[in-house]
Amino acid sequence: MSAPWLLDELTHAGPEHLDEEFVANFDRKQGFPDPGDDIEALRRHGVETTGTVLDLGAGTGRFTFAAAAVFRRVIAVDISPAMVRALSRRAEEGEFDGVDVVRAGFLSYGHEGGAPDAIHTRHALHQLPDFWKTIALRRMAELLRPGGVLRVRDLVYDFAPAEADTVFADWLAGASDDAHLGYTAEDYAEHIRTEHSTYRWLFEPMLDAAGFEIAEAHYEGRLFGTYTCVRR
Ligand SMILES: C[S@@+](CC[C@H](N)C(=O)[O-])C[C@H]1O[C@@H](n2cnc3c(N)ncnc32)[C@H](O)[C@@H]1O
Repeated sequence: MSAPWLLDELTHAGPEHLDEEFVANFDRKQGFPDPGDDIEALRRHGVETTGTVLDLGAGTGRFTFAAAAVFRRVIAVDISPAMVRALSRRAEEGEFDGVDVVRAGFLSYGHEGGAPDAIHTRHALHQLPDFWKTIALRRMAELLRPGGVLRVRDLVYDFAPAEADTVFADWLAGASDDAHLGYTAEDYAEHIRTEHSTYRWLFEPMLDAAGFEIAEAHYEGRLFGTYTCVRR
């Protein structure tokens, strides 16, 4: 995409994701999430081991490198130069032949080669305001082959506006005390204040408008939504 009104994805990437020190501790802070369910969901929805999978907003590559052990080709895409350096280092150290690392964003990634079979994106789409989420989702649908699978997990609000105080109070009460080992109440407050998580009742029509059929949806704690979608 190139237009004078195009969003600057780097300024919306979250300043912490551009910070080498934050990136170096990122897996620990996140608690080393297990991408097993995501890989299993792609396989369950027909993504073959010979397939190509894009990981958009790949971060340090928790999903990328686990997926590389299963699928023929995985393309890890991230807008942050610090994340891309971490991904490239890990790809080289692990000698992952089937992994390509690309510095680009949801709105700027240009795919080369045959249409991917699947797209995975975790905890990244909320960096974009809602209008731009719809453009990003539409681009994902256009990238995928018909029948291709989107696995998206994000902070998505599964409640009504009147419940925001209660849900957020509970969320902050359960936060970590140690910023190195988890997300603190201040981290969560900053997320609510400055990032663009949307409501479930807005997000699901966005997926539909972009050209996706929701095959599975699962929520944790009214705050984290995971969707497996099929491109119509
Ligand atoms: C919270 S991290 C999640 C990383 C990884 N998906 C994971 O779950 O471990 C969000 C990632 O999205 C990246 N990001 C933010 N905005 C982006 C954009 N517009 N396009 C691509 N990546 C983006 C950040 O640089 C960061 O690596």
